[in-house]
Amino acid sequence: MTKIEKIVLSYSGGLDTSIILKWLQETYRCEVVTFTADLGQGEELEPARAKAEMSGVKDIRIVDLREEFVNDFVFPMLRANALYEGQYLLGSSIARPLIAKHLVGVAREVGADAVAHGATGKGNDQVRFELAVNALYPSLKVIAPWRQWNVRSRTQLLEYAEKHHIPVPSDKRGEAPFSIDANLLHTSTEGKILENPAEVAPDHVYQRTVDPLEAPDTPEIITVGFERGDPVSVNGKSMTPAALLTELNGLGGRHGIGRLDLVENRFIGMKSRGIYETPGGTILLTAHRGIESITLDRAAAHLKDEIMPRYAELIYNGFWFAPEREMLQALIDQSQAFVSGEVTVRLYKGSASVISRTSPWSLYSADLVTFEDSAVAYDHHDAEGFIRLNGLRLKSWAARNGR
Ligand code: ARG
Repeated sequence: MTKIEKIVLSYSGGLDTSIILKWLQETYRCEVVTFTADLGQGEELEPARAKAEMSGVKDIRIVDLREEFVNDFVFPMLRANALYEGQYLLGSSIARPLIAKHLVGVAREVGADAVAHGATGKGNDQVRFELAVNALYPSLKVIAPWRQWNVRSRTQLLEYAEKHHIPVPSDKRGEAPFSIDANLLHTSTEGKILENPAEVAPDHVYQRTVDPLEAPDTPEIITVGFERGDPVSVNGKSMTPAALLTELNGLGGRHGIGRLDLVENRFIGMKSRGIYETPGGTILLTAHRGIESITLDRAAAHLKDEIMPRYAELIYNGFWFAPEREMLQALIDQSQAFVSGEVTVRLYKGSASVISRTSPWSLYSADLVTFEDSAVAYDHHDAEGFIRLNGLRLKSWAARNGR
């Protein structure tokens, strides 16, 4: 094993990374610096400090990254209306490059020669962390204990914890918890009974949304203001990116919006089943499409929709810091110059629906589209020729086929 002098560990304070911290200290016998990011996971972070202190960590970093997360990662992604495999809003995928960026920053600052993370050897997150580190600090080593140690399962992990007197948290029902990843954009839950896609997810899996069946019987109408493709206000009140997403998470959660039970294809090659809750993000996707519908030119909108699956896949697969993602981002960002205005959204029993939209830059022309008589220059005879020319090849094709 190559000698490592100093390691920066991405540390949540949870069971896995607490065990990893101990394992790194014992295996490498070097200083371990912990880095803990507040991404709005809704957990107290001070206990993480206390636990790291107890494990003898001298340099403990706890940083609030909520605004950077939403402003520099979530919002750029939302400009693309990004969905992986048509449904997943990429809540875990988009957080990894941000964490990696800061891990690398701390590594440079303290002169560490390696970073470590607690992602398992079967998931996407290891790929995302490490590709981001490669792109930002090519010579930095990455330690992935889950791929190195001989702990092979959650059960063995719990045994290791017991042996080393590391307290094992349990969920509200006294059971070992699901694998959960949460931040301001989403909560993702995997593992245990969810590993059988034929099993219906039990109710207690859901953390931040009510069951749509139990949501209020009266709809709630809200407005979301957009400026150049990014949401800037809710109900006329300007908010910072993180505050705005927090507000919409509250509203969406109360109305049961943004639940998703999905079997997805991991980059690494297997299918996995997870439960996602993305209340605010779901409202924003709907509202953003609403404002784009009146402000984007047709061809521009369709081009965006064509590249969207590709862009989403790049983020899912961990290529945030890659030239092709940056190229697509430039295209997407340029499309947003006039995507400003207000969208009214109705929240009701699990659904967010656009019910009206306005923009000073609207391309919508009532005069042009109206069923009534209008003075706008539109010659109905043009449509006749337009259809005739488009139909020409269909006529040849049908005649050849003998219809
Ligand atoms: N499958 C999701 C993704 O790859 C979430 C992964 C992390 N979630 C978890 N519960 N461990 O983006």
